[in-house]
Formats: sequence, structure tokens, C-alpha cells
Amino acid sequence: MRNTRLDIRLLSGAGGAEISGVDVAQDLDDGTIGEIRDALNEHCVVFFRDQELDSERQKAFARRFGEIFIHPNYRGTGDDPEIVMVRREPGDTSYVGEDWHADTTMVAEPPMGAILYGIDVPPYGGDTMFANQYLAYDVLSDGMKRMLDGVRAVHSDIMVAGPQAGKNKGRSTKHRDGPDWRETRNSHPVVRTHPETGRKMLFVNASYTVGFEGMTEKESRPLLDFLLEHGNRPEFTFRFRWEKGSIAFWDNRSAKHIALGDTGPFRRLMRRVQICGDRPV
Ligand code: SIN
Repeated sequence: MRNTRLDIRLLSGAGGAEISGVDVAQDLDDGTIGEIRDALNEHCVVFFRDQELDSERQKAFARRFGEIFIHPNYRGTGDDPEIVMVRREPGDTSYVGEDWHADTTMVAEPPMGAILYGIDVPPYGGDTMFANQYLAYDVLSDGMKRMLDGVRAVHSDIMVAGPQAGKNKGRSTKHRDGPDWRETRNSHPVVRTHPETGRKMLFVNASYTVGFEGMTEKESRPLLDFLLEHGNRPEFTFRFRWEKGSIAFWDNRSAKHIALGDTGPFRRLMRRVQICGDRPV
């Protein structure tokens, strides 16, 4: 039986939908969860406002969409390995999510999505931008689509974690960077088919994709740079303005995202839970 009535308002022509009329801290019925999932599949990211969520309720909501994914590089941002606290303090010179990316794509089965909750939100700045990778694929020429057919990209965490990445200096949220850290590397199709919608989308990102399978990184660079830039074209993007109690729930398969660095003298603290995904095909 339904216990809520969803109101869905589109954020832009490129994607994003704000859902109101639902309290995600409640035990939602299957029909409501199904509608949220449908909206996520259709609009790439769904947003909620004025939610009151502790860690347990956030995880319970996430579990309605799949098992919780434990990030291999962020252990230690809090007591709970299922939670990543994304923290930015005034004066930080670096922060999590500062390049266009999809999350954690170096693993064999990257997360299907993430639920980010605004705990301490600056009065202005610190928005998150998203880019719709269905659209990015759709507008490629037939020639480019043919060329990309069957091409696989190598994804690695070498640029964002471990001692060589040098990312922890000046950043409040720390990656694992001890001597026991080991690179994780996997390849995925450059053009991926969404397991639920059946639509094709571009699946490369600046934080994790290092080149194409069977090619050197130098050989890969020109085409990879084109695809990375192309995927962030303004007409594919949409932007979310945070408030305390806001939620962004993104489909990590069809959307890339970037956190904006303009928080000025303000702190920004978010709680993130990721949801397991499947092997890209
Ligand atoms: C992330 O990349 O997961 C963080 C996004 C944000 O803080 O807006």
C-alpha cells in the first residue's frame, strides 16, 4: 500500500528532479521506492529537501536500493565504514570531488549510486554540478559511436589515492595513503549500457580513467581528453544548491559530478552512503 504522494519537479532540461512530499527517514512502501527509482533512472539525480536523517536512517534508505558499498580508500573518516564524511574546513586547499567524476570507478563493480546528505552547509557556494552521460553519448557522431564500439577504458585510483597522489595535503577528508595502500585497476566499456533503462551512456571520468585498454596512456590521451571535455559540456549539466537537510541521490552510472570549491570562509560537511552496483557492460 502507498503511504506517500510524490511530487516531482524537474530541475533542468539536462536532468535532475526535486522530489517533495516524502520523508525518507520513514519506512517507505515498495511503491514509493519504485517511483523514486524510476525518477532516478529517468533524471539521473533526484533531490530532496528538509530531511532529518541520522546515519542509521540514511543507511536504511540506501539499503532499499541495494547493498551498501564500502569505499576502499576512505576508511577512517568516521567510526562507520559504511559512511564517508565529506568535510571541507575553511582554508582547505583541496577537497573531495574537485574534478568531474563518477565515484570509485576503479573497482570491478562500481557503485550504482550515492546518497549525499547536507549536515553543515555554507550560506552560499559549495554547489554540486552533474552531467548527464546519456546526452553526452547521444550527440556523438555516428562515426565516433562506431569507433568507440567495443573500446574499453582503464580505470585506476592512482590519481586520487595512495601516497603518490599527494591528495591529502590541505584537505580535511583524507584518503588512505599509507605504505600498505595498493592501486586498484579495472577496465570498463567506454560506452556502457544502463542495466535498468537499457540506454547507452559515456562512462569515462577525469579522476579515475587513465587510458584505453591495449594503448599507452600517451596514445590514449587525445581521444580521452576529448571525451572527458565533451561529457561536461554545459548543455549536459545541471546544478544543485544545497541547504541543511538536502539530499542528492545520484545514479553513478549515468551522471558525472563535481563539487564546487567556492565555499569561502565556510565549513561544509556532508554524509555520504554509496550503494553497490554491477559490472559495466
Ligand atoms: C563527491 O564527489 O562524492 C562529493 C560531492 C560533493 O561534496 O558535492
